[in-house]
Parts: sequence; structure tokens; C-alpha cells
Amino acid sequence: MPNGAHYILSIDQGTTSTRALLFDQSGSPMRVRQKELRQIYPQDGWVEHDAEEIWEATLDVCRGLLTAGTHVENIAAIGITNQRETTVLWERATGKPLHNAIVWQDRRTAELCAKLKAEGKESAVQAKTGLLLDPYFSGTKLAWLLDNVPNARVRAEKGELCFGTIDSWLIYKLTGGKVHATDATNASRTLLFNIGTQAWDDEILGWLGIPRALLPEVKDCCADFGLTEKSLFGAEVRVAGVAGDQQAATVGQACFEPGLMKSTYGTGCFAVLNTGERQVASANRLLTTVAYRLGGKTTYALEGSIFMAGAIVQWLRDEMRLISSSAESEALAADADPNSSVVLVPAFTGLGAPYWDPHARAALFGMTRDTGAAEIVRAAVESVSFQTRDLMEAMTADMKAAGLESPQALRVDGGMVANNWFMQNLTDILGRPVERPAITETTALGAAYLAGMQVGFYGTPQDVARHWQCERRFEPEMVEAERTARYGRWGQAVGRVLTRQA
Ligand code: G3P
Repeated sequence: MPNGAHYILSIDQGTTSTRALLFDQSGSPMRVRQKELRQIYPQDGWVEHDAEEIWEATLDVCRGLLTAGTHVENIAAIGITNQRETTVLWERATGKPLHNAIVWQDRRTAELCAKLKAEGKESAVQAKTGLLLDPYFSGTKLAWLLDNVPNARVRAEKGELCFGTIDSWLIYKLTGGKVHATDATNASRTLLFNIGTQAWDDEILGWLGIPRALLPEVKDCCADFGLTEKSLFGAEVRVAGVAGDQQAATVGQACFEPGLMKSTYGTGCFAVLNTGERQVASANRLLTTVAYRLGGKTTYALEGSIFMAGAIVQWLRDEMRLISSSAESEALAADADPNSSVVLVPAFTGLGAPYWDPHARAALFGMTRDTGAAEIVRAAVESVSFQTRDLMEAMTADMKAAGLESPQALRVDGGMVANNWFMQNLTDILGRPVERPAITETTALGAAYLAGMQVGFYGTPQDVARHWQCERRFEPEMVEAERTARYGRWGQAVGRVLTRQA
């Protein structure tokens, strides 16, 4: 770490934007630069990003921070966090991508997943990787690229190509092509990585026809990922911390103990529960994944993702025009008839965990003659609470089956948590306390912590945990009978939109 280094530079490459933030030694965000990312939709259900655009935006936001009064010598290290699963294939010698990046939301490999399932491979895949056979993950996307980009498989076998998730792509570009690496959390989302042995899995690679020569080296989250090329920022800076965005948020929320759980409410919602050294298998279609790997020791997590959270509020604003700004949803929900039984099931793009029904569609139930905008807004916001409760129930059941404690509270972050009505409703529906931290930039903060721990800027996870501060703790106020009745109505409504048995 250079003398006089006051900051960690954190890169947060997300689905819709690329950001760079500076964090000081107290873990406070000092400055931020951001650039929107173009979404490319070549066909129905296909979603791509331009990998070159991602790289240029990353360079731009980092340089933006470094020209605004902070010199590169003030940077102790770089941390990277990223949209996970998104798949890039590039030429090892030149760094030229062979195709647009295939984004995690892309469904083009649904048929391949169905074929592998029909061959009875899902239980083996789940046991090895903790994941399900769903187009969400990188493995089948990479197989698609190898099948569809001319000569790709032959060139891959000769070692001429590199595969990577966005972290690998950025590490490669930042180090001037010297390092082809990833971290264990990103590897755990590829469908190719055995999370028990912490190694690429030859059997799955064989099923998908993926040559080993394509794959990055898998490192701990705190590790030496190389030095940035001098010409980029005027001096070399070490890349010292990497994690996928939901795992980085888990670190940023200091969920270092088994039983600690965080939930991030962005466009969708991702809930991650630390299960410690135990790799808890899910009987409820949650994902078993790597929370983080530090000093060669893997900490596991259960993860549940729901597709629509903040996106429901956008729908209320942009499509239904019931509100003119997201902030208005708070006042309107608070104004709704408290006895309203209106339920919205926001299955606009199907339902995620624990249902995994891509064909289910959204529906509104229980309207009466006096139902108005306020009741619909309330139902929309409350649907996020119900979905979180679904995840919490599934996690509790999986933990119980493993003989482990269920989560006692929930740490939250993401744009929606500014809505106090939502926070109170969430805690009421969960029947558990909900904790909102003082710093809600938890994803970027997690990457900064990882890089900072590696270079001695932040100390140990215990030191980091001492930084975590609760801004407000919400306690359940709803009586149990009402909670049960409301959650029961939700369960019935979901039952009516499902196209198959969950
Ligand atoms: O698994 C996908 C997730 O990592 C994407 O996160 O915040 O970029 O939408 P985000």
C-alpha cells in the first residue's frame, strides 16, 4: 500500500450502470462517478451488453474520480464488484471480445437447460454447483457462444480465447492482459464450478463442451489480482478485492456470522443468508452459493432472488401512471385503506425463487368498488414484502432441515429501503426486525472492504463488522392474526397465477 494512501477505489459494474466510488478509512463513500449502460435486445428474451463499452465506461468513471482532486498515489487498492453470471468471450492475445456479452437476464439457452434437465442432470448440477439448470447462469451461455461464434470451440481448445464474467474481463483489461482470474463468488455463479471442492468441474465442462483452457484462475475474494497497467492511471494500482455484487453487499453489510442475512432491493431483490462453513442444500429451490472466500476458507450462503422489486414501483410510475415519482409511493401506500385486501402478484416476467415459474403472469386480486390508486400502490409495495417472506420461509425450512438457526433479523439496502412505509410493512409481514444501515452503498463498500482488507487498509472482518452501523431498526407492530391473514391471501393469489406446481 503506498504511503499517504487515503482511499480505496471501488468499481461497481452493474446491469444498468457502471460506477466508481472512493471510500475512506471509516468506510464512508467520498465521491462517486457513474455512467449508464446501453441495453441491447437482439430478440425477444435476449439481453446483451457491449463488453468494450463496459470497459471504456469503467476507465472513464475511474479517471473521473482521479482527476477530481484525488491523485492515483492516494489510492491504496482497487476493489471490483459486478453484475454476476454475465458472460464474455474474448481473444487472449488482443483482448478483443468475440461477441457481445450475454447478460444474466438472457433466456436464449432455455432449450439447452430443458434438454439437460430431461437427461436427468439437474440433481448432479445442484449437488456440485448449488445452482439449478436455468439460463440465468453463465455455463450454458458460454456453450451457446462456443456453438455460435465461428471457430470459437477450436480456438478455445488451442488456448487462444478467454472466458470470464465481468470481473475477469475488467481484471484482464486493467492489468493490460496480464491476468486472467476471477474470485470464488463469481466462479460459483457459472454452473461450471464445484463449490465443495472449489475447482472447475470436468464432468460439467464435458456435458457443455467447454475446454478448460478458456477458464480463469479462481482466487480468494481478498487476493492479488495484479497491478493496473501504468498508462491507464499514471501509476500502477493493485487490484486486491473482488466479489459478485450480491456477495459484496453481504460483506458491505458485515454479514460475517452464520444466520446473518441481507436483502438488496434494486430492480429485483436478492436475499443472501450466511450459512458459515456449511454448504446447505436447498429443498426449496433456493441457490447454495459462495458468500466469500478469505484466506482459502470458504463461507457459504443460501440465496433467493425475486425478479421484481423496485421495478414494480417503476411500473406504477411509467405504465400505470398512478404516481409521478417513486418517492410518492410511500405517501400513497400510507393513505390506503388499512383493511384493503387487494393483492398484486407481480409475475410480470414470471416468478423467481422459490417458485421458478417463467410462464406465470401478473394479476391483481380482491378489488372492490372502493379500490383506488392508493390501495393498488399499497398492494404493489406489499408484494415485495410477501416475496421476501417467501424467501425467508424457504430459508428457514432449509436451515431447519440442516439443524441450523433460522435468520432472526434482516439487513436491507438498495433504492427501495428509503421508503419507510415499505420498511414497516416488510418487518410486519416478516414478523422479524428489519435493520437499515447508515451506509446503504453496501455493494461498492463490500468490494472496498475486500480490497482494503487485503492491503491492510481495513484490518480484519471483525474490524469491518465494528464499522457497521444501524441507521434505523424497524420492529414488527402488526398483530399475528393480521399477518397470518394477509400472508395467507398472498399464498392463495400466487397459487392462482402459477402455471405449474412449484
Ligand atoms: O445475479 C445478477 C445480479 O448480480 C445483478 O445485479 O444489481 O447489477 O442488477 P444488478
